[in-house]
Order: sequence, then structure tokens, then C-alpha cells
Amino acid sequence: MGIKDIPQVFEIGNQVFTKKDYVFLYRTWEPYEVTGLYTTDPELCIVAEYKNKVIGFALGSIIEKPKSSWTYGYLIWIGINKRYQKYKVGKKLYQEMERRTKKLGARMMIIDTEGSNIGAINFFKKMNFKMGSEHIWMIKNLRNY
Ligand SMILES: CC(C)(COP(=O)(O)OP(=O)(O)OC[C@H]1O[C@@H](n2cnc3c(N)ncnc32)[C@H](O)[C@@H]1OP(=O)(O)O)[C@@H](O)C(=O)NCCC(=O)NCCS
Repeated sequence: MGIKDIPQVFEIGNQVFTKKDYVFLYRTWEPYEVTGLYTTDPELCIVAEYKNKVIGFALGSIIEKPKSSWTYGYLIWIGINKRYQKYKVGKKLYQEMERRTKKLGARMMIIDTEGSNIGAINFFKKMNFKMGSEHIWMIKNLRNY
């Protein structure tokens, strides 16, 4: 990914992380997710292009535990333009992310998504992920308190 790709990545995120489909992803997706990760982990910001247009992206990070030798890869965001989903673009991006993450010394890859995001869960299962423990997120409307 290059700096010129940032607006297209953000645009695809806006298209796929919708309130209707995935409330948590919708609420947490904002420009800093792209610019921040591009600043801290540029090697793990990857785009897929078709005819010079960005059609998908994967943004990741490396987590290092200073007191142990453990290094984790964390795939934070992956999104494919709806028109190009189910054409193996996500698979190729994921494989490239895994390759780069391994090269950076990670022994494990972490992903998370909403329990209702069955499409993504099935996709990650195809990428050989196993279910971890249940992860709950909650909402409190602060205007009511
Ligand atoms: C999840 C997502 C990244 C998958 O990308 P994709 O390019 O459509 O997936 P691919 O074509 O590479 O599919 C790879 C494998 O996963 C399977 N798969 C992909 N999407 C699937 C779905 N919705 N339901 C069931 N299986 C699915 C494919 O069948 C394929 O299996 P195969 O290799 O046995 O044929 C894409 O649907 C997307 O952008 N979703 C919205 C954003 C999102 O939820 N991101 C994840 C959380 S950040």
C-alpha cells in the first residue's frame, strides 16, 4: 500500500463495514485506522489492485510481548470491494499478510470479528483459523446516564 491508496482503502471500508451488516466494525472504522496503521506498520498494510484501482485491503499489526519471546501478528482489518468478493482476493491478501507476518518473527496470527459476521468467520475458517474463546462487546448509551 502506498500513501496514494489511503483514500481508496478508506472508501472500501466505508462500503463494507456498514451499520446494517456489522455494527462494531462500522463504529470502529475511521480514517485513523488507516493512517495510524500505515504509520506504525507500513509493511502490514497491503492492497489488491485491479486495473490500477484498489479493490481490497488488509491492515495488520505486530504485537510484541517484551517479557516473553512471543510475537503475534494481528490482522485488524480486511475488506474487499463488494463487486470483487468471492474471487479469492481476500485469500491472496490474507496469504500475503501471513507471509509478511511470519517474516517479522510472529508465531501466531490473531483475528477477531463480530459473532454475527458469518461470512468472515467462514472465510477465516477456510484460512485454517480455529475458534478462540468467546469475546463479548457491549454498548452503553452515555446520553442516558
Ligand atoms: C470476508 C472477506 C474479506 C472475504 O474476501 P473474499 O475475497 O470474498 O474471499 P475469497 O474469495 O478469497 O474466499 C476464500 C475462501 O473463503 C470462502 N468465503 C469467502 N467469503 C465467504 C462467505 N461469505 N461465506 C462462506 N465462505 C466464504 C470462499 O468460499 C473461499 O473458500 P475456498 O477457498 O474453499 O473456495 C470479504 O467477504 C469482505 O470484505 N467482507 C466484509 C468485511 C469483513 O467482514 N471483514 C472481516 C472483518 S475485519
